[in-house]
Amino acid sequence: MKFDLKKLVDQALKEISQARSVQKLEEIRIKYLGRRHGILTRITQEIPKLSMRERAGIGTKIKEAKEEVEKALAACPQTTKTTATTIKIDVTAPGKSGEPGSLHPLTKVLEEIKEIFHYLGFTWVEGPEVESDHYNFQTLNMPPDHPARDVQQTYYIDEELLLRTHTSSMQVRYLETHKPPIRVLFPGRCYRRDPIDATHFPTFFQVEGLLVDDKAKMTDLIGSLDFFAKCFFGEKAKIRIYGHHFPYTEPSIEVEVYHPKKGWLEILGAGMVHPQVLKNGHVDPVKFQGWAFGVGADRLTLLKYGIDDIRILYNNDLRFLNQF
Ligand code: PHE
Repeated sequence: MKFDLKKLVDQALKEISQARSVQKLEEIRIKYLGRRHGILTRITQEIPKLSMRERAGIGTKIKEAKEEVEKALAACPQTTKTTATTIKIDVTAPGKSGEPGSLHPLTKVLEEIKEIFHYLGFTWVEGPEVESDHYNFQTLNMPPDHPARDVQQTYYIDEELLLRTHTSSMQVRYLETHKPPIRVLFPGRCYRRDPIDATHFPTFFQVEGLLVDDKAKMTDLIGSLDFFAKCFFGEKAKIRIYGHHFPYTEPSIEVEVYHPKKGWLEILGAGMVHPQVLKNGHVDPVKFQGWAFGVGADRLTLLKYGIDDIRILYNNDLRFLNQF
């Protein structure tokens, strides 16, 4: 054979071990592995000239020899620098594009509620999630020890402060500082100490609606809610109402919407604002009446998108979120 691979490799390794600079290493690389004139590259080009016997397995041997030299070069501490200096940034290469995000289904539903009621002249006002017992309960005819507090398992922060259990907490807050006519929505997060299951979660979203003027009627309330249901669920949506009790509305109703697969489902509570609540908000109940409703935005989201577990809305699983 016209060349001794082993000797060549040993020679290369020796030179590599003696190299003291990045530049020197690069010279060695070119000398042995250079694309055109590298010694080991040229040997490959010599193969056709060998006899059949000499050729046997020579390709693999050359490949192994090259790999050994490459490995030795890569293992050199200086080469870290070599790589760093030889990497060129191709500014024309297409970048990695980020996945476009999308809105959470709950956010979409909140926006939709806002839009539908905006059409009826309602504005949108956010209130505090950390609320006082005063606005969450007392001004809504629920003094301490009132039994209606029991259904709203409350997270108390101290004697006076709590995490609001419903957005009705905004009613008196708003009435105190605004004069009728009033048409406003209070959206937001609420909290209750509910055990977690498919339909309960310790935090959830409500949207409260409040209308106060000198001719507010129960029929307007029902008509507005029917209009809402039809806009939100489609022309064919039906609602039905039945009597209920809330300490802060009189009379009070609950509203169910018809779901083709699940039948009648409760979506909101509502009623005529209790005269005492108007008084608490410095509004004269002789001159003005009002109606209010509180709708569960989570429930609406589950119904609209055919989701059957509220927990999915809150665990931020991208496999779920990417579908929106
Ligand atoms: N606050 C009630 C609830 O959380 C809903 C409601 C709002 C009822 C306004 C009447 C009037 O269930």
